[in-house]
Amino acid sequence: MAAAVDRRSFIKMFFTGLFSAIMGKFTKTSAAVAGSDIFLPRQIITGDSRSTRVIMWHSHYAHNSLMVNVRDKAGQVRSYAGGGGWFQDDGEAVYINKVFINNLQPASQYTYQIVQDGTTTPWYSLYTDDGEAMEALIFPDSQCSDGYETWRQVATEAFNRHPHINLFVNMGDLVDNGEAAYQWRQWFNAISSYMPSRLFVPVMGNHETYDLNWKCRLPHAFLNLFAVPDNHSTSFQRYYYSFDYGPVHFIVLNTQFEEIDPIRPGMMEEQLAWFRQEVAASAKPWQVVLMHKDIINYDNLGSEEPLADIDEVGKRFMPVFDELGIDVVFTAHQHTYRRHGHIYNFSPADHGPVYIDTGVAGNCRYSVPRTKRFDKVMLPQPESDNYLTIQFSNREFILKCYLPDGQLMDSFVLNNNK
Ligand SMILES: [Fe+2]
Ligand SMILES: [Fe+2]
Repeated sequence: MAAAVDRRSFIKMFFTGLFSAIMGKFTKTSAAVAGSDIFLPRQIITGDSRSTRVIMWHSHYAHNSLMVNVRDKAGQVRSYAGGGGWFQDDGEAVYINKVFINNLQPASQYTYQIVQDGTTTPWYSLYTDDGEAMEALIFPDSQCSDGYETWRQVATEAFNRHPHINLFVNMGDLVDNGEAAYQWRQWFNAISSYMPSRLFVPVMGNHETYDLNWKCRLPHAFLNLFAVPDNHSTSFQRYYYSFDYGPVHFIVLNTQFEEIDPIRPGMMEEQLAWFRQEVAASAKPWQVVLMHKDIINYDNLGSEEPLADIDEVGKRFMPVFDELGIDVVFTAHQHTYRRHGHIYNFSPADHGPVYIDTGVAGNCRYSVPRTKRFDKVMLPQPESDNYLTIQFSNREFILKCYLPDGQLMDSFVLNNNK
């Protein structure tokens, strides 16, 4: 919800955080590749997953040689060189290393290993996009106050139950406090055994913009941890971006204008101009938006004011989604699963974008009322954790919403008649 943190939650988070921060020092190396200075290897989304990929990892020391070897099914190995950068935040420092891989063949199976000054990792799986179909996991807000144990459980269940996904998305508010180094460490450690072989799509949430005093700052950690595709912005690089996978053009929008504008104004105007160009330039059959904040104002449902039940994010973005013919909009932030269905011109409709508020994948749960006008489907209250699978072919989109134990809670099919 819009209110960042109430006092009770803050006190709870403070003591949980203090404990976790101390413990964090002892578990700091838990996600290292055995016997090496290579931490948290991960695959990050690129604009074109048919032929490119970004591999990132942490190290505690600077290294002269940062390489990734990529091996195809015939056993041919090609080496790619990369670079590293010093990153310091919350009193901790680390090197963040990155290698850009290109010239891959579409619809192909590869393995890769990191080679850092002669030290190697195991070989990890890497698959390229066939440009025709795709399946992904979507995780809602994963922010936790339990050492990220809930996030570990939800993600582990989902990864194990759906081993053949092409990528996984986190819809923002990955961590509760974007400056807290121990929280990032816990978030990564919870899924560190899965990340090397699964392609990750991060979406920025408002909690990524909070400093340790719960004031807004630029999302320094998020921007450094995930080298997402270039949006050609000089002021807001990596704040928003797009990529293709299968038959879908995904546009990852940034809803944090309230948080970021007072520090660095102009993101919304720049982003909207970019967004229009992006959609116009894409020939993909599906145009799908991923953005953190939902479009319903659940705090204002009883008001008679015009558009009282649409929040500021909705008022700014929804007319543009209508105009551009966006097919599906995934949101989060409310920590509750709601399938809003088609909404056009701010009203429930049988056409226009389908809106899905994706739920919660951490232990931070809110009580959210129902809007009968827009909430076609919601989960039983109090809210449980959940995750989604999405499948796209040229003609069909299939959404499924699951509880962590695998119980199917909602499914929805949308045909593409364009
Ligand atoms: Fe959240
Ligand atoms: Fe949020």
